[in-house]
Amino acid sequence: MSIDIPEPILEVRGVSKYFGNLKALDGVDLSIPRGKVTLLIGPNGSGKTTLINVITGVLRPDSGRVVFEGVDITGLEAHERFRLGIVRTFQIPRLFQNLSVLENTVVGRYGNPGEGVVRGLLRSLWYGFERTSHEDALGHLDYLRLKEQLVDIGERRPRELSGGQMKLLEISRALMPSKPKLIIMDEPIAGVNPVLAHEIFSFIRRVCARDGITFLVVEHRLDIAVEYADYAYAMHLGKVIAGGDPRSVLEDPRVIESYLGG
Ligand SMILES: Nc1ncnc2c1ncn2[C@@H]1O[C@H](COP(=O)(O)OP(=O)(O)OP(=O)(O)O)[C@@H](O)[C@H]1O
Ligand SMILES: [Mg+2]
Repeated sequence: MSIDIPEPILEVRGVSKYFGNLKALDGVDLSIPRGKVTLLIGPNGSGKTTLINVITGVLRPDSGRVVFEGVDITGLEAHERFRLGIVRTFQIPRLFQNLSVLENTVVGRYGNPGEGVVRGLLRSLWYGFERTSHEDALGHLDYLRLKEQLVDIGERRPRELSGGQMKLLEISRALMPSKPKLIIMDEPIAGVNPVLAHEIFSFIRRVCARDGITFLVVEHRLDIAVEYADYAYAMHLGKVIAGGDPRSVLEDPRVIESYLGG
């Protein structure tokens, strides 16, 4: 199932993925339009996270291809895809509890770094080598209004933040790579109150418009998400069962049935 998109930033072609005998992805085809917000919906276990993992290089598909800006990236490692501008956030924010909010943002420049990278990075922060990253991080935290909410972002630790603020911190970190082109988010408003959830989606829209960044967002709370999206795809049992305008996808009888357990 593929919408006719003139110049997609990302194309998934015939991707299948097995876990043992379970076919988690079953011939997935989709195209992600450049500079837009696309939603990926579907009931639990339909294959959304597996698809994100295949796109970002965490998992290799058993068959099929992933094409980014016209280049086949199926064989590339996750860090190589990150360097091309494919960035992701996690459903459960992966924050470093011993780093400040500001430092947690700065490390986003390096993807999902391990402990060693973080230590080296802190040293260069200390010596002022990372001034540009620092300034960029302050800019993003300001734009997402975390700076005004938290006041001392150089001191505050992630555990002091509300669930919604942690989600905002994940987003500010996703903006840190020098040139993010495609940001993929796994449930950015899960567990967030409705007011902040709307704010988070407004931010996503604003960043999309301001920087021309493409967003692919997995989200269950369609009541909130639908008004902020340009396109949507729905998955069920490892297949894409609908794609197009978000409201028409939501109203598609096959999609409704899949959510009702059909
Ligand atoms: N590492 C794994 N090993 C074995 N089975 C897996 C693994 N990861 C996912 N699965 C299975 O693959 C199917 C798709 O899972 P996936 O996590 O992609 O679904 P999802 O659409 O993201 O669901 P949710 O909405 O609950 O996050 C499920 O049946 C799941 O149990
Ligand atoms: Mg998932």
